Amino acid sequence: MSDVVVETDLPDAGATRALGAALAGVLRAGDLVILTGDLGAGKTTLTQGLGAALGVRGQVASPTFIVAREHPPLPREDGSRGPALVHVDAYRLGGLGELDALDLDSSLDDSVTVVEWGRGLAEALTEDRLEVDLERPRGGDVTTDDESDPGAGTRHATLRGVGSRWAGVDLAALVPR
Ligand SMILES: Nc1ncnc2c1ncn2[C@@H]1O[C@H](COP(=O)(O)OP(=O)(O)OP(=O)(O)O)[C@@H](O)[C@H]1O
Ligand SMILES: [Mg+2]
Repeated sequence: MSDVVVETDLPDAGATRALGAALAGVLRAGDLVILTGDLGAGKTTLTQGLGAALGVRGQVASPTFIVAREHPPLPREDGSRGPALVHVDAYRLGGLGELDALDLDSSLDDSVTVVEWGRGLAEALTEDRLEVDLERPRGGDVTTDDESDPGAGTRHATLRGVGSRWAGVDLAALVPR
């Protein structure tokens, strides 16, 4: 069975946040999202859109010293709660042992777990995962974009659902046509 792959262009940070928000519509407790892309590609920006749309407590930020942060769900209008958001930045993690030490297993079932820089590491957490790759078609790996170049902010996103969890999910519905 081949994986479901969807691609889209993200012209600015708002579009990246909107993609994160759209993901909130399909993600549920137990899901793992692996975010891949250079420094400043927009991994945290996407997670901010996701956190806002999930309705979780606290500001999703770039953790400087904190490797993993759990954002508990805020109650919805009807009193129900969605999943928590566990946001991990694996950039500084030395390997599987350090990932294991975060004990993400214990929060996984009740949370949407998002791991920046998780490729090659976080796959061990679950059988299924959603991979989101963010690329800067114009190159560059810093968080400041060249304001003299109107297209410099453009990112290209590739979404890939891996495993049976994603087999019937219409990822194409998440991106603008
Ligand atoms: N299309 C875009 N999508 C996302 N961010 C963009 C876009 N265009 C410009 N930006 C800017 O690029 C920066 C992306 O930073 P962000 O922290 O989201 O990247 P990151 O991938 O998490 O980096 P790091 O690897 O350092 O964690 C922000 O300053 C954002 O405003
Ligand atoms: Mg980041």
